[in-house]
Amino acid sequence: LMKVKVAAKAGFCFGVKRAVEMARKCLHDRDGPVYTLGPLIHNDQVIGALAREGINVVNDLDEITGPGTVIIRSHGVVPCVYQRAEQKGLNLVDATCPFVRKVQNTVNDLVKQDIPVVVVGDPLHPEVQGIIGWSDGRALVVADAGQAEKLDKFPKLGVVAQTTQRQDNFEQVISVLKKNGSRVQVYNTICLATAERQREAMELAQEVDAVLVLGGKTSANTAKLAQICRTAGKPVYQVETAEEIDFAWLKGLRSVGVTAGASTPGWIIEEVCCRMMDFEENVNEETMETQVEEQ
Ligand code: F3S
Repeated sequence: LMKVKVAAKAGFCFGVKRAVEMARKCLHDRDGPVYTLGPLIHNDQVIGALAREGINVVNDLDEITGPGTVIIRSHGVVPCVYQRAEQKGLNLVDATCPFVRKVQNTVNDLVKQDIPVVVVGDPLHPEVQGIIGWSDGRALVVADAGQAEKLDKFPKLGVVAQTTQRQDNFEQVISVLKKNGSRVQVYNTICLATAERQREAMELAQEVDAVLVLGGKTSANTAKLAQICRTAGKPVYQVETAEEIDFAWLKGLRSVGVTAGASTPGWIIEEVCCRMMDFEENVNEETMETQVEEQ
C-alpha cells in the first residue's frame, strides 16, 4: 500500500485564516457591498467560493463608485490606500497580517531614523510593494546574494525580509552586506509559519518517494515549498486541485508526501487525500484483474 504523509503545518497560515474569517464576518456584519483590494489570497478555489458568497475583487479603489466596505488582504498595502479609502468614504477592514505589519513598521522606523533599508524579497510581490510604500519608496529590494553584491556600499543598513523568504537566502544576503563593509542591523521578519512549513517540507521530502505540493500557481510561498522539496532529489508535483493529480505520477510509489502553501484551504488537502485513496482502489482493482487473467 502506498503511504500518504501529510505535513502537519500544511495549508492556511494564521494570517490567511484570519483574513478569510474577517472577510466572511464582513458579509455578515456590514450593509452594502464588500470588496477586497486584489484577490484576498492566492488561491482561485477560495476566491471562487468567496465570490459566490458575495465578495467582489477590485484591483483599484477607483473601481468602487458607491459606498461599501473594502478589505485589505494579508499582504498589506502602501499607506496612501488608507487615505484614499477614507476620502472615498469607504469602510476599511484591515486584514494585513500582523507579521507583515511588523515589517512595515520596522521599515517605517528605520527610514525615520535615516537608516537605509534593504528588503530581502521579490520586488514584484504585493507584500514587498506594500513594504516599500511604508519606507516612502526609499527601501532597496534585493532578491538574493548576487543582487546584494551590486548594491551601493552603505556604512550602516537595516535589513528586513519579506515574510515568506527562505532563511538561507536571507542569511546569504546579510553576509554579503557585512562582507561589503556595512554595519548591519538585522530584523529577521521571516514568518515562523513559513519557516516551519519549509523545514517540515524538507524533512518530508527526504522521507518519501515523491512530494505533492498543493497551492495556487501564483503563490510565491507554494513555489518556494516546491523548490525546497526538489533539493531532496525526489520528484515534486505542484497542483492546485485534486483533479490535477495524474495517477501516472503515483504508479509504483511506496510513499507520497503532501504539503501545501499558506493559501491552500484544508478542504483542498482533504480532497487530495481522497483522490489518493481513489488511486489506491484503482491499483487494487487493476492487480485483481491481472490476477483473474492469470488464473
Ligand atoms: Fe502572515 Fe506568515 Fe501567513 S506573514 S500571512 S502568517 S505566511
